[in-house]
Amino acid sequence: MNAKFKLSDSLNLIKSFKTSGTITPSSKSLIKTLLAPIDFKSASCIIELGPGTGCVTRSILERMSPDCVLICFEVNGDFIEQLTALQDSRLRVVNACASSIRTILDELGIEDVDHIVSSLPLALIEDQVVKNILESVRSNLCEGGRFLQYQYSLNNYAELKPIFKAVKLDFTFRNMPPAFVYECIK
Ligand SMILES: C[S@@+](CC[C@H](N)C(=O)[O-])C[C@H]1O[C@@H](n2cnc3c(N)ncnc32)[C@H](O)[C@@H]1O
Repeated sequence: MNAKFKLSDSLNLIKSFKTSGTITPSSKSLIKTLLAPIDFKSASCIIELGPGTGCVTRSILERMSPDCVLICFEVNGDFIEQLTALQDSRLRVVNACASSIRTILDELGIEDVDHIVSSLPLALIEDQVVKNILESVRSNLCEGGRFLQYQYSLNNYAELKPIFKAVKLDFTFRNMPPAFVYECIK
């Protein structure tokens, strides 16, 4: 796993704090907790929401099988070039909002996805957009699929509970700031 601290990544996140909601990339420990529920052997399509400078993206690519596809949704154009530079034939980088999952899956001819991993700063996104994103996540996950999201507060826990079969909660101190991790099962 490559979750090394890079000063340039932090500077880019700080520059776009209003949409990134953080000043430093996720730690190795947070990424490990976030990705733990994924069975990488059986997954054929994974979506990542809010990849930013790509620390979670690289960890997913390192673990996923040669036949699996990873589709990343990122609104910040400055990060797109950095993500595309990862040059992995299994990776599709889309400069679009996380609420447009269905449109992109239709373009790629994909029916549904195994898992959705999200670093979206839900607390900074407008309520209606969060609702649209969560509905888009739920409706495009396969039965039994996981939605994995970290957050620095429990702000969205109540919103996630009624739309998934189960929501498990984990926590790691080993991140700046410490973070909650939701594992939502469809
Ligand atoms: C906290 S940063 C995450 C960076 C990296 N994944 C990590 O864990 O360190 C959140 C990212 O979400 C992106 N973002 C914010 N709103 C979004 C949206 N509606 N759709 C897609 N990406 C979004 C931001 O541009 C930013 O890159």
